[in-house]
Amino acid sequence: MDRTFVILKPSTVSRGLVGEIVSRFERKGLKLVQLRVKKISREEAEKLYSVHRDKPFFKGLVETITSGPVVLMVLEGREAVQVVRKMIGATDPVKAEAGTIRGDYGLDITDNLVHASDSSESFEKECFIFFTQQELEKTH
Ligand code: CMP
Repeated sequence: MDRTFVILKPSTVSRGLVGEIVSRFERKGLKLVQLRVKKISREEAEKLYSVHRDKPFFKGLVETITSGPVVLMVLEGREAVQVVRKMIGATDPVKAEAGTIRGDYGLDITDNLVHASDSSESFEKECFIFFTQQELEKTH
């Protein structure tokens, strides 16, 4: 079964949208393999977003994701990477379709509520920044 890695960003936690968003993933049929509340360190954020290191928005991106606690999740299901990307919508919430998470709840491009791996390769890299091999062993 396929897996993906998701972060509910600090504003999702402070706005009280965690339950709503986790519920969408569960109702879709995705299984929770891991779920944890954590304040991400600068080092972890820089590793997570290393592909964006040279982009003008990198500093703001790291500041935003480290500004408060986040929820880290590993979700499992058929074609999990593509399914979750579709459910969260376009990177810019202004362009995200209504019915997607960013389309329904966001406006800011950096503070766009949710991060999700864009490929299985990204999943492999991203999930091991935060979880151990043992924590990702089959749970059900
Ligand atoms: P995320 O899915 O977390 O992955 C990379 C993040 O970079 C993205 O969501 C946005 O938060 C941020 N991002 C991408 N493009 C821009 C941009 N043009 N301006 C500001 N932030 C951006």
